[in-house]
Amino acid sequence: MSILLTMLRNMRGSLSKPAAQAPTAETLPHPQPPSEPPAPTAATIAGSPREPSPDRIYSLDTTPPIDYEPGFDIDYASATLTDIADHYKTDKGSIKHRYTLVYEQYFEGMRGAPIDLMEIGVACGSSLKTWAKYFSRSRVVGVDIRDACKSLCKGWPQIEIMIADATALDTQRMFDVIIDDGSHVSLDIVQAFAHLWPRVKPGGYYVIEDLRCTHDAHYQRMFTFPKDPAAFDRSHFAQFADAALRDMDNGEGDIDFMHFWRQMCFVRKRG
Ligand SMILES: C[S@@+](CC[C@H](N)C(=O)[O-])C[C@H]1O[C@@H](n2cnc3c(N)ncnc32)[C@H](O)[C@@H]1O
Repeated sequence: MSILLTMLRNMRGSLSKPAAQAPTAETLPHPQPPSEPPAPTAATIAGSPREPSPDRIYSLDTTPPIDYEPGFDIDYASATLTDIADHYKTDKGSIKHRYTLVYEQYFEGMRGAPIDLMEIGVACGSSLKTWAKYFSRSRVVGVDIRDACKSLCKGWPQIEIMIADATALDTQRMFDVIIDDGSHVSLDIVQAFAHLWPRVKPGGYYVIEDLRCTHDAHYQRMFTFPKDPAAFDRSHFAQFADAALRDMDNGEGDIDFMHFWRQMCFVRKRG
């Protein structure tokens, strides 16, 4: 049996999780440290460090879910993913992370396809709307533990919101893309992957964001969800990555590649 499969099976029961409890604006963490990380160095990620935009509130789990609508349209068909992300104020674009520049390298060729995309972490629904406009023929599923997120994105027939802990989501649907922008807690990342990787179609992608949070003491201090402190340990993610890489070296398992970028990891399933 593959090293990763064995490790994920063991890990699923390795820590007892506290009962899910509806968080409030006061109890939720700020997902980023106050200081800006250094500017990205990959040649494809242009730009220099800048102050976080106040627009970031629409991507933060410290904000009560506010259904942001810009009130005007842009030409979505010709817009870049960064344009659309900034239009809906998710921090995946130039408002903060610039992940959109990386995403486009993988997703541009799929833009007109009728894909199924799941994102863990709804917050204010900004990234779900971004994906729905970028992939104009897609079906988008957002998953969040906060009940209040259920009321978002009404009038968006492409978007469905499920209220659940991603590490135990009950679904049999298959997805071309799954994005983890949820708790960013090391063990949650691994458990969500263990639970949802089987739901990725052959040739599909599983993307993990904000990996800095797995080794950021400030993030753990600010995090006030009920959570075993051991769950933040970077070793959960490190062991997962190690097991996956060993499997790939041995020609085992179903991971085609793992690409690491600044704070992001793209995992593709063999076709
Ligand atoms: C960073 S925000 C998502 C931002 C959003 N994707 C965007 O770009 O606009 C993280 C969200 O994950 C949710 N969350 C935290 N832990 C979760 C879990 N275990 N399962 C599902 N959602 C979770 C929080 O309630 C919060 O709304």
